Amino acid sequence: MSYARIIGTGGFLPEKVLTNADLEQMVDTSDEWITKRTGIKKRHVADSEQTTCDLAEIAARNAIDAAGIQAREIELIIVATTTPNRVFPSTACLLQQRLGVNGPAAFDIQAVCTGFIYGLSIAEKFIRTGSVKTALVVGAEVFSRIIDWSDRTTCVLFGDGAGAVILQASSEPGILSTHLHADGSYQHLLTVPAGISESYDVLKQGTAFVQMQGSEVFKVAVRTLEKIVEETLAANNMSQEQIDWLIPHQANIRIITATAKKLNLSMDRVIVTVDSHGNTSAASVPLALDIAIRDGRIKRGDTLFLEAFGGGFTWGSALLIY
Ligand SMILES: CC(C)(COP(=O)(O)OP(=O)(O)OC[C@H]1O[C@@H](n2cnc3c(N)ncnc32)[C@H](O)[C@@H]1OP(=O)(O)O)[C@@H](O)C(=O)NCCC(=O)NCCS
Repeated sequence: MSYARIIGTGGFLPEKVLTNADLEQMVDTSDEWITKRTGIKKRHVADSEQTTCDLAEIAARNAIDAAGIQAREIELIIVATTTPNRVFPSTACLLQQRLGVNGPAAFDIQAVCTGFIYGLSIAEKFIRTGSVKTALVVGAEVFSRIIDWSDRTTCVLFGDGAGAVILQASSEPGILSTHLHADGSYQHLLTVPAGISESYDVLKQGTAFVQMQGSEVFKVAVRTLEKIVEETLAANNMSQEQIDWLIPHQANIRIITATAKKLNLSMDRVIVTVDSHGNTSAASVPLALDIAIRDGRIKRGDTLFLEAFGGGFTWGSALLIY
């Protein structure tokens, strides 16, 4: 069986930037509070005309260019998103049409902030089993649309963006293992409690917003991510010293620091974008990965630890050789 290797990455952030100073004008908060509790200084926000697919398309095209392939070589498209363009067709189908790759399978994954890791894991299985040779996995969000901009406990945390990878079959090691988990008993701690078949009225009123019990989420996230570090290393019979880079989900610098500590990694081996992106949900891991590959920190042959945690709760990791 062949490995699935990342052969190209891409990212995209909408132009508009919202700083902590801007938020101070909108809600009762301060740059000091946001910085101290989260590490976030600014985030990008899509304009009212920009859709998740718009962001996904640019990230995908950047990944295709970086991989040096033609879009028509893609045999599988997975888009991880919590903020799809429409109820249906999936954002992956809309993206497929834009890329002109008609025919191959395309579908969305909903695992909130862990969505990209879920998508990566699924694509890897398709490649490993020989079903497809080349896959596009995108994490894309216009999370700003499900934020109550008058709720200071959530509006300071999130941002919009998209990240993408091209995976290809290879005899050289790529993804070594992925680990996916979920526990729906925590659904009430982080949720948008409205949808098509539940609380549809809330959706119709345009008030379907993120609700979160932040400190509870924080505690479970730290505990759970520590466990998945152990699980991932054990599955590969590897020790902390063999990890070159941690590319974590970017929700809060304090959660990231705790995971880095568990991996015994100094912060200069951790890719941090939360300061300038905020939490872009499914886009955060591929965006961070793309930035660190493009600026030359992550090099071919490096061992990468990717992890994420999100609503559901869902959580997951991927260990790979870049
Ligand atoms: C949200 C989070 C930053 C809050 O930090 P915290 O240290 O847990 O703070 P708390 O929620 O306990 O709130 C502390 C105080 O700050 C206040 N506060 C909350 N948001 C605030 C804001 N934006 N500005 C100023 N004060 C704020 C609270 O009202 C509370 O005030 P009180 O003590 O008078 O009641 C933190 O819990 C967190 O990051 N949680 C995880 C979130 C996450 O990762 N979500 C996504 C998972 S993918």
